Amino acid sequence: MLALRAGKIIMSDLASLEQRALTDLRACTDEAALRAWNTRYLKGEVDQAMKRIGELPPADRPAYGQQIHALKNKLSSEYETALAKAKERALARSLASDALDVTLPGRPARRGRLHISTQTLRAIYTIFADLGFQVYRSSEVEDDETNFGLLNMPEHHPARDMWDTFHTTKPGVLLRTHTSPGQIHVMRELCPKPIRVILPGMCYRYEAITTRSEIMFHQVEGLAIGERVTMADLKGTLIAFARRLFGDRRKVRIRSSYFPFTEPSIEVDMDCIVCAGEGCSLCKKSGWLEILGAGMVHPVVLRNGGYDPERFSGFAFGMGPERIAMLSYAIDDIRQFWANDLRFLQQFGT
Ligand code: PHE
Repeated sequence: MLALRAGKIIMSDLASLEQRALTDLRACTDEAALRAWNTRYLKGEVDQAMKRIGELPPADRPAYGQQIHALKNKLSSEYETALAKAKERALARSLASDALDVTLPGRPARRGRLHISTQTLRAIYTIFADLGFQVYRSSEVEDDETNFGLLNMPEHHPARDMWDTFHTTKPGVLLRTHTSPGQIHVMRELCPKPIRVILPGMCYRYEAITTRSEIMFHQVEGLAIGERVTMADLKGTLIAFARRLFGDRRKVRIRSSYFPFTEPSIEVDMDCIVCAGEGCSLCKKSGWLEILGAGMVHPVVLRNGGYDPERFSGFAFGMGPERIAMLSYAIDDIRQFWANDLRFLQQFGT
């Protein structure tokens, strides 16, 4: 009797539990509320009600068991349906509020560009590649011997004064003052083969920084060695280069000069790109612009590179890409190159 009454009480409890659970479920408007409902009912009260099955007399258990399972299934499916609907509503709401207007113009990505020196270097590489010159790189940190001694400037040679030098704390180790020591490296590596290379790279000089001189700058060295390389080859190469870089009608003028590592040594001028020889402020009224130093490789240098000067001859030249860029674009201050001022840098290239 007692057990039956207990069973009945529990049965009626289930009916009221169902009522409360359904009323509360309907009041839930969003996912968070539904999840709280789930914790309170399915995982809470319904679960506990299932565990109470053991308190019942065995005879009542099947009926109770069916009832509670039916309740659980019903509430679960109501819950799943309500949850799915709440998710749908949330999605619709977020789509409506975060609407994307695909017709709006995009924000343009700002494109970077190559540094003007890099652009000039690449233009130079391209021209010399067409003339059969390969790029050879050597180190910016050099020893005194290769930067000077092997280039026919023994210690205390007065010509060393042409290059003010950054020495390191290690005796005999310095920052190269020009790309010419690369001549020694490439000759020693390729001897006795013929050579046609350009040697680009940064050079350093311990100088006062002015509008016309910087402590760091690029150079592009050229070196050709073979059994019958002549001054005419040098001239032809430089004229071809100047015309490719500055235009078809460029004239090239050769003046005699002095470098310890070339004999004879020359300096090469090109007719002024602004006034074409008339005389203007860029060319200081001379009609000519100096573009590089060059000459026939000195026999001592050939020998230091491993080549027999009786059999081989060669020419070498050295030019400054920053200077070439300054001439091309009428830039009047070399300090702009390393000042990293975007207003300057953005003017060059696409
Ligand atoms: N190295 C010389 C300089 O720095 C340029 C040069 C290179 C001259 C090769 C002759 C031959 O001024």
